Amino acid sequence: MKKDLISIKNLSKQEIYKIFNLAAQLKKEQRQGKRHNHLLAGKTIAMLFEKPSLRTRMTFEVGMYQLGGHAVYERLIGEKIGDRESVQDVARNLERWVDGIVVRTFSHQNVTDLAKVANIPVINALTDMLHPCQILTDMFTILEKKGRLEGIKVAYIGDGNNICNSWICGAEKTGIILKIACPEGYEPFKDMTITHSLEEAVKDSDIIYTDAWASMGQESEKEMRNKVFQAFQINKKLLSNANPDVLVMHCLPAHRGEEITDEVIDSSNAIVFDEAENRLHVQKAILSLLLRNEL
Ligand code: CP
Ligand code: NVA
Repeated sequence: MKKDLISIKNLSKQEIYKIFNLAAQLKKEQRQGKRHNHLLAGKTIAMLFEKPSLRTRMTFEVGMYQLGGHAVYERLIGEKIGDRESVQDVARNLERWVDGIVVRTFSHQNVTDLAKVANIPVINALTDMLHPCQILTDMFTILEKKGRLEGIKVAYIGDGNNICNSWICGAEKTGIILKIACPEGYEPFKDMTITHSLEEAVKDSDIIYTDAWASMGQESEKEMRNKVFQAFQINKKLLSNANPDVLVMHCLPAHRGEEITDEVIDSSNAIVFDEAENRLHVQKAILSLLLRNEL
């Protein structure tokens, strides 16, 4: 039976580590110049994106190429999947031509609807609700740096958005201890203990993580959000309350001077470009396992 990647919630711990192990192997092979283009030779994916992207689009397309397959990218501008024809009919067309669908949408429901109908794997490349490929990559990056996930303390500071929601799912599966600090009224989807004190969140943490204050689609709220979130900025002063070797992460794109300052994102504590690189290796593992029916 085909398997989708809609949420980390739907993966077992064993499946998560299967992805990480293959990602580590593919990363090593790629660095050694060893080709692995037999894995998805002759396979094709469709990439439907309602929102902009640098990292997700590039890494899925490059990843498909390195695995021997091909990606067809369609950017829907001012149009949503389901506007021209039903989401179900989009699925019934695509499954006749391609081997998988990578989709970035506003509505999370559109992704679950596509997955329900399509008899090929559907991969969530970000919705308003979740961004599983990002958080799988972030956990893989932490594993590389720290050698384990169990007991690692991650302080998520900022908006209770798609990134924060996926962090909750990821932490639950792996034993990461997640502390969330966000302003009142901007909490994540799930009932969790939230602190409104940054100092409390960062104290003793191994990782400090942040994301945009206004996500894609919330541009009209940007001015208002910049005021609400001002106290939640990751800056040098906040870092002085943390472990000196704390690692700073951000899914990117960063809004320098807003959620994070230059001096922090450009410091030796920040590992944001290692995260960005790992999107390629982790998504190659996801593509290979799902399209070869091995997960
Ligand atoms: N982090 C991330 O998903 O980046 P893009 O929006 O550029 O794909
Ligand atoms: N929360 C951000 C993540 C970008 C990768 C957004 O949805 O715009």
